[in-house]
Amino acid sequence: MGTIFECQNATKAYGGLTAVKDLSFSVNQGDIFAIAGPNGAGKTTLFDTITGVSALTSGSIRFEGQEIQRLHPDRICRLGISRTFQTTTGFDTQTVLTNALVGATLGRKGTGRPTVRFSDEAVEAALDALELCGMLHLQGQQTGKLPVFDRKRLMVATAMATQPKLLLLDEPVGGLNRAERDAMVDLIRKVQQSGVTVLLIEHIMKAVQALANRLLILHHGQKVAEGPPAEVLRDERVIEVYLGRAARHTAAVAGGGHDDA
Ligand SMILES: Nc1ncnc2c1ncn2[C@@H]1O[C@H](COP(=O)(O)OP(=O)(O)OP(=O)(O)O)[C@@H](O)[C@H]1O
Ligand SMILES: [Mg+2]
Repeated sequence: MGTIFECQNATKAYGGLTAVKDLSFSVNQGDIFAIAGPNGAGKTTLFDTITGVSALTSGSIRFEGQEIQRLHPDRICRLGISRTFQTTTGFDTQTVLTNALVGATLGRKGTGRPTVRFSDEAVEAALDALELCGMLHLQGQQTGKLPVFDRKRLMVATAMATQPKLLLLDEPVGGLNRAERDAMVDLIRKVQQSGVTVLLIEHIMKAVQALANRLLILHHGQKVAEGPPAEVLRDERVIEVYLGRAARHTAAVAGGGHDDA
């Protein structure tokens, strides 16, 4: 499969702090490509630059061969990149279905315009995405009242309703209990099997190992290692800069043990 996405010498500075430094990598169509690294390594910053939330200081980001730097987020979404957020994010006063409909309307095949009447195509795309995420029965519920797992699934559904080619997931498994994590891993696999390439930020190494065919470790904004997860997780420098911390992070966040990391 060919390259769908490519970062070349990507650098993002916030004033004196360089959050992403000279980072290059490429994602093949059909990949589940995982990015991990200590807190503050620059992972979310990278997603923000890919999705047009903020611009790179230097370097390039190409999607299907096209430079997407400096395009607005809505344009990038319409090209076929959508994302979820590390912090659970949605239109809390609206129903589950309306959240998915907003995704469908602003997505790759939507009208791109806010509307008081959703098109039949948007309704179909929204319902398809809710079905994929196992949420059809919740479509009439108010989003803000849902438990965390459903809110995280709804972020995936809303992003999938945009009919993306590349889906960016920022810690989809974090904060979930064991059964929910397994369900989220299954959902991400279903997303990939539906033909969507996945770029995944995740601290929980069990989930990364279950899903990813490639893993990149970021530390202080720079690539420490990249390759098949089993190889990367054996890398001495990765163990030194990340894995000890990851075990502690997971234990602190999930109340779990080293087996979760
Ligand atoms: N908008 C911003 N303005 C200034 N500094 C920022 C901004 N966003 C992030 N940073 C800084 O950039 C660095 C990278 O942050 P980022 O959120 O990308 O890390 P991360 O790898 O996603 O961490 P975590 O695992 O905790 O989510 C941190 O030092 C952070 O404080
Ligand atoms: Mg982050």
